[in-house]
Amino acid sequence: MKRSMLLAAVACSALVLSAAPAKSDPAAKAPKPVKTAAMAEAGKTIRIATDNTDLILKVGDNGRVYQTYFGPKLRHESDIALPGLNQYGSTDGALSARGWEAYATAGNEAFFEPALGIVHADGNMSTYLYYTGSTTEAVPGGTHTRVMLKDDTYPVNVTLNYVAYPKENVFKTWTEISHSEKKPISLWQYASGMLYFSDPEYWLTEFSGDWAFEAQMSSQPLKFGKKIVETKLGSRANMYASPFFEVGIGGPVKEHSGEVLLGTIGWTGNWRFTFEVDNAGYLRVIPSINPYASNYQLKANETFTTPEFIFTLSYDGASQGSRNLHNWARRYSLKDGMGDRMTLLNNWENTYFDFDQDKLGALMHEARHLGVDMFLLDDGWFGNKYPRKDDHAGLGDWEVTHNKIPGGIKALTDSAKVAGVKFGIWIEPEMVNPKSELYEKHPDWVIEQPNRETYYYRNQLVLDLSNPQVQDYVFGIVDKILSENPDVAYFKWDCNSPITNVYSPYCKDKQGNLYVDHVRGVYNVLKRIQEKYPDHPMMLCSGGGGRSDYEALKYFTEFWCSDNTDPVTRAYIQWGFSQIFPAKAMAAHVTSWNKNTSVKFRTDMASMCRLGFDIGLKELSPDEIEYCREAVANWKRLTPAIMDGQQYRLISPYETNHMAVEYVADGADKAVLFGYDLTPKFGEKLPFVKLQGLDPDKRYRLEEINLMPGTKSKFPENGKTFTGDYLMKQGVDLFTRGTNVSRVIELSAVN
Ligand code: DGJ
Repeated sequence: MKRSMLLAAVACSALVLSAAPAKSDPAAKAPKPVKTAAMAEAGKTIRIATDNTDLILKVGDNGRVYQTYFGPKLRHESDIALPGLNQYGSTDGALSARGWEAYATAGNEAFFEPALGIVHADGNMSTYLYYTGSTTEAVPGGTHTRVMLKDDTYPVNVTLNYVAYPKENVFKTWTEISHSEKKPISLWQYASGMLYFSDPEYWLTEFSGDWAFEAQMSSQPLKFGKKIVETKLGSRANMYASPFFEVGIGGPVKEHSGEVLLGTIGWTGNWRFTFEVDNAGYLRVIPSINPYASNYQLKANETFTTPEFIFTLSYDGASQGSRNLHNWARRYSLKDGMGDRMTLLNNWENTYFDFDQDKLGALMHEARHLGVDMFLLDDGWFGNKYPRKDDHAGLGDWEVTHNKIPGGIKALTDSAKVAGVKFGIWIEPEMVNPKSELYEKHPDWVIEQPNRETYYYRNQLVLDLSNPQVQDYVFGIVDKILSENPDVAYFKWDCNSPITNVYSPYCKDKQGNLYVDHVRGVYNVLKRIQEKYPDHPMMLCSGGGGRSDYEALKYFTEFWCSDNTDPVTRAYIQWGFSQIFPAKAMAAHVTSWNKNTSVKFRTDMASMCRLGFDIGLKELSPDEIEYCREAVANWKRLTPAIMDGQQYRLISPYETNHMAVEYVADGADKAVLFGYDLTPKFGEKLPFVKLQGLDPDKRYRLEEINLMPGTKSKFPENGKTFTGDYLMKQGVDLFTRGTNVSRVIELSAVN
């Protein structure tokens, strides 16, 4: 059946339904004032635009609000008011009511997945939202549009928020829900927003995995029905799936061509993405907090604010979409997005729990010798009654273990000063070991079943951050360390357990609020820290990369991508995370994972992100140490490209046995090209690597850097000069037939 005929059939069946006899008083069925006022606004359009994309909403003749367009920017103002695909908002009523409602609600004639589901105080399960007004205001970098909606029968208000960032071509949307019913209402679905597409094909790329295997990309076509990607882990929420996706519009996602939607939700707890293809072949994308076990009791006059859903449409493949997000994140979202990042030496994999004050002092000198900015002390420095000598005890008791570090944190910051490096420290403040003084004193501060056997994940439990007293305690951990030791320059904030044994003594009869209010409690703590210590850098870690979302990253300068630092697996992990996050937000360390690879290969892989080390220098030869020192110096010199420039993913490890990524500094006078041979096959053809983002009319000198002492470059174009045009059209001979070989090429514009 042709699409137009199909639509007519849909309209017809809806009309038949609406002709069913009324069962109750016809007067009660007359349009209410909210609806009549909204209908008077029929035809009003709301344009939410960036430099290259339009999202257009329109008030239908029925007074409800519909998405009429989302795609490349419309050239002619006159086209904005056109009805839009499928005639949403037409006088036909039935058809308009079954259109692409901007925030579809449950209990009405829309038979597919809604954005909002409410059980009202009287048990009624339907919600109809009518337009009551809209506003726009300038915010840093963009424009904030609010669309106000109201139910005509129940005192429920909903505000749809959209911020458009024109230059970056990024949008974010979130929703506020409130009411003044006599008793609490129950929210069983509360999405951040909704988007619709009408194209012949849709291809989802999702990022799933596990510990040490994060953000692995896989693609599948979206056909009729629903595809859900979600987490139910509560706190270490992203262990199995990352809160972001790509949808290829019209075909599979490609790196450098085609239309792609990239989206991510800023929520450090249970989230859910629903992709639903309906009977007409239309796709709706619904990003949301996962309502799993979370029917939320909302009191009158309280506002439920959903997380932000951040998205961009690229017309030149995923790579451009990623750059949109990277630029947006650095400018408007990531903590200290425009600031510098510190290179560091971490002691976790080098010592695990086996260290003391003197050993740490010696490591600080190693940090200095490497040329990094900071020494980062990891897990195992706290607990006295139950010392943290392994992961069975001590979490919660944030006092230095006296017989391990007799001089306290002060002795460590003093040693760091002597060594000439900054000092950072690890905490895991949302957790408790049952073997701790904290648990003995406050068992009611813990998420744990009162009447069932307890299940332990990594021998620990999650503190109940929905409880304001617990929030105070967690804030106090950071506050005490910083107020007593102002020289502590950095935190690594870990979170190793999902929420287990789900029950909150604090939430009492509102257990459905726990998953949501717990995350809000975490944010309350982070906000207080941010307010009191606004310039303090922190790394977000969660048993590797179990937390990676843009709401948390308002409070963290970077996140730990994975405990897996084997450079071969890292290629895939970093490629995955880079789809959404700038290199500046991604921490990568050189360790002894996969000793079959050279220290150079490991370091070159880590140099694509915020560089650090987690390795003892005693493991390294003098040449390797010399190499690392130079690599650190090179990395620092090249931060305008690697940290602050534009990233071009050129050759994918998912599609070839190689990887090439290029970073171009603003102004295109400097660029860095990283090339890696993973496991080339005998006789395979080596692709030439065409660069991107250079100035075609500038000439660039190419120089291989990060060479092991005593070795000479075999890069064929080393030392030669080419125009940007040639490099982007012809490319360079970057790859080799070796296994686990890397090359780092610096490009400098010459006169
Ligand atoms: C998990 C982190 O990912 C590691 O880097 C390390 O900090 C350990 N936790 C410490 O327990």
